Amino acid sequence: MSHTITILSGDGIGPEVMVEALKVLDAVSEKFSFKVSHSEHLVGGAALDGTNNETPLPQETITACEKADAILFGSVGGPKWENLPPDIQPERGALLPLRKHFGLFANLRPGSCHPSLTHASPVKNELIPDGFDVLCVRELTGGIYFGQPKSITTLPDGDIEAIDTMVYRKSEIERIARVAFTAAMGRDKRLLSVDKANVLQNSVLWRETVIEVSKDFPEVELEHMYVDNAAMQLVKRPASFDTLVTGNLFGDILSDEMAMISGSLGMLPSASLGKVKDDGLYFGMYEPSGGSAPDIAGQGIANPIAQILSVSMMLRYSLGEIAAADAIDAAVQKVIDSGLRTGDIFTGAEGETKANTAEIGAAIIASL
Ligand code: IPM
Ligand code: MG
Repeated sequence: MSHTITILSGDGIGPEVMVEALKVLDAVSEKFSFKVSHSEHLVGGAALDGTNNETPLPQETITACEKADAILFGSVGGPKWENLPPDIQPERGALLPLRKHFGLFANLRPGSCHPSLTHASPVKNELIPDGFDVLCVRELTGGIYFGQPKSITTLPDGDIEAIDTMVYRKSEIERIARVAFTAAMGRDKRLLSVDKANVLQNSVLWRETVIEVSKDFPEVELEHMYVDNAAMQLVKRPASFDTLVTGNLFGDILSDEMAMISGSLGMLPSASLGKVKDDGLYFGMYEPSGGSAPDIAGQGIANPIAQILSVSMMLRYSLGEIAAADAIDAAVQKVIDSGLRTGDIFTGAEGETKANTAEIGAAIIASL
């Protein structure tokens, strides 16, 4: 079997964690006898630098992604580009257009905390004796991020008005609900739908539609919660959550909360899935949940696990190489169990050994 992927390492720690992720990808492809051809293209600040600040998402990059089975993304952004016009800043000018262009409507963000890492979580450890394992399914191409009109206007009376519009079509809610129910079927078969149906019409339609879709998944236990309450319950009893589904804006906020309580952003991968291709697999973009971490970039100390687990998600959802994905997940687990830790999850506890980016990568490859 042969696959083609496009690599967009981007900025900050992106390139250095990507190096380790690609070594792991090469190792599993050899072990499980498949080929992945990959080529690197410019995105984010790196693309701005390479195009004289013209664009963070060159057409050449989009074309390369269009020809691929999946995109493996690092991270974009940093202080160097923060004062450029908002439309060409790395996040708004590259990440959001990529999601929209490729119709990546389903964002899967696992937020788990392994029992051996609960001490790294800010949640009181007696609340999570066995860690926790939540999957956030966030709608990614609709809602208030993309709804029109969107404007800032000076009114006749001299005051200034800003407008963002929250729009959801039933069809958009239905398709994300199906992804979420399917994900829940592969987990503990419990789905929590998060909305603000006591205030927003969008959420009224959201709730109705999720209930309708639930009829096709009778084994999944469905619950609903308002977003403010969900934010509270997540810190109060994270271990009681299984799969969560919500819209674009609420998902943005709750997934950061989930990442924080899991102890380290450096551990969490994510998948943004689009349409199902002819081979029955998703076209998708895979990236660490954390950002470009400019403060530690270039030092070789970033945790490469989120990027490596993003490779595993890519193998699972876009390339159909399930055995290879399982092997990576198991190897990562083994390395964590061995006590090897980058600075973000190192506490100095007995049995822990501090390691740098390359050492973690090498240990994972050795454990495959
Ligand atoms: C995320 C990020 C993006 C978002 C930003 C960078 C536009 O916060 O992926 O969660 O809001 O979706
Ligand atoms: Mg976010």
